[in-house]
Amino acid sequence: MTVLNSGIDPTAADHTAHRAAMLDKLAELDAEHAKALAGGGEKYVERHRGRGKLLARERIELLLDPDTPFLELSPLAAWGSASPEYAVGAAMVCGIGVVEGVECLITANDPTVRGGASNPWTLKKAFRSHEIGLANRLPSIHLVESGGADLPSQKEIFIPGGALFKHLTQSSAAGIPTVAVVFGNSTAGGAYVPGMCDHVIMVKERAKVFLGGPPLVKMATGEESDDESLGGAEMHARTSGLADYLAADEPDALRQARRVVARLNWRKAYADPDPAAVAEPKYDPEELLGIVPGDLKIPFDPREVIARIVDGSDFDEFKPLYGSSLVTGWAALHGYPVGILANAQGVLFSEESQKAAQFIQLANQRDIPLLFLHNTTGYMVGKEYEQGGIIKHGAMMINAVSNSRVPHLSVLMGASYGAGHYGMCGRAYDPRFLFAWPSAKSAVMGPQQLAGVLSIVARQSAAAKGKPYDEDADAALRAMVEQQIESESLPMFLSGRLYDDGVIDPRDTRTVLGMCLSAIHTAPYEGARGGFGVFRL
Ligand code: COA
Repeated sequence: MTVLNSGIDPTAADHTAHRAAMLDKLAELDAEHAKALAGGGEKYVERHRGRGKLLARERIELLLDPDTPFLELSPLAAWGSASPEYAVGAAMVCGIGVVEGVECLITANDPTVRGGASNPWTLKKAFRSHEIGLANRLPSIHLVESGGADLPSQKEIFIPGGALFKHLTQSSAAGIPTVAVVFGNSTAGGAYVPGMCDHVIMVKERAKVFLGGPPLVKMATGEESDDESLGGAEMHARTSGLADYLAADEPDALRQARRVVARLNWRKAYADPDPAAVAEPKYDPEELLGIVPGDLKIPFDPREVIARIVDGSDFDEFKPLYGSSLVTGWAALHGYPVGILANAQGVLFSEESQKAAQFIQLANQRDIPLLFLHNTTGYMVGKEYEQGGIIKHGAMMINAVSNSRVPHLSVLMGASYGAGHYGMCGRAYDPRFLFAWPSAKSAVMGPQQLAGVLSIVARQSAAAKGKPYDEDADAALRAMVEQQIESESLPMFLSGRLYDDGVIDPRDTRTVLGMCLSAIHTAPYEGARGGFGVFRL
């Protein structure tokens, strides 16, 4: 065992100040999560309950094995959307939970938000959930009650939205089970959700599944009809055969969904690690709140984070004396082996980039998943570094990350700027899961630097034209740009755009990553033995 030491004093002034700043951010985050939980608001929640219906999260709770956790993903989807503004959560709940011992990907429409209709953010969330399901081979369960396309935003969703149904059948073709439980409206395109799923359950007198409702049928063919005969659960169970099971009510539908999963004969690719053999970290996770400074310009030692998330705080550091601005090493998390890359001083130099590329290759040779802990301002700039080959060395790291075939996990702890975000497996590099702490910030560069660059460019442009430069306007522009970039770098904004899978409390990091690793081990994986692009040496 190589147990990490800790230099943290939880009573020290800087620790308590960082902790206070983090707690403030967590309180802000809680307020935004509460909006997602509130769905369409009191009026619509009351009306929904008045109809004897369960809320989306209540349905999920009844579906899951008792006392098992639910890892909700992207609860802040649509946060910060404007003109039009969509409800936080995007009218859909999505996450991973355990049903009859099987880890499943669950989506549930929230019918209290504009009838559960899908807006552009709902679509992004559904697409992301499909990616997660496919990469990790998780059976999916869809709790359906939706007014279909959000009609005023149809231009954003009609054409791309067709992929929803394609995804369902592609999952099925890949042998990944799909289950639809229909609680209410599932009209028009939505009818293809049960239409495309392997298993379909419908709630009596509630489910309505038709390509066109009675008014549309009347318009199209002149035929008189009613909801039940066109698309009721009884009709689909007895006559059309679209429903495999008729449920008496909502709890019965969820019970039947559990029975379907119990009979899937589903097996994970890897046996779960023995929890009794897993040692907890030696240090208190509570102390994770006081590690990241409120001011991200102040560096912090990521080993203090590693010591609080890995099994037994046991960490074997790789190349500790070389490229010390990036910490690399081997550990286990809830019994799963992981290779960790964590930024230390913020900047990535040539040595760090080469070390990362070598480390990623080793993880691939040994089939070990990788965890990236971000706090980087990017690759080093300047004459000395350009001449030293920083571009080709950064490219080596990006090549290694891009072509690595072991599962990747990313956590944005602090800064994640510039190409450093890419080299550390940012969103575009397809980590299986990516989460941010409330302290994180991500953008092409820091707000002050970006405003300064714009100002220098404008000044040069004015000089080239022989025009005087307006210093007052420049100061005002810089302040405005700085504020804009700052707000666009914040985790709630980025989470709203689904650039991460959620903003998490640092204290939950070990649990969240453990659940992800468990889900990841549903699918077999093999590291890349070769197959990297040309490394510019
Ligand atoms: N797009 C945009 N807004 C929608 C919507 C949709 N597809 N469906 C419902 N809404 C809105 C309603 O306008 C209403 O807004 P308001 O309260 O501000 O007036 C709110 O969501 C709730 O709808 P309401 O009809 O009162 O709820 P309900 O629970 O009684 O009925 C539906 C829900 C989904 C059955 C019903 O709204 C409906 O049939 N919608 C249209 C379905 C459809 O044909 N969709 C096209 C599919 S491609």
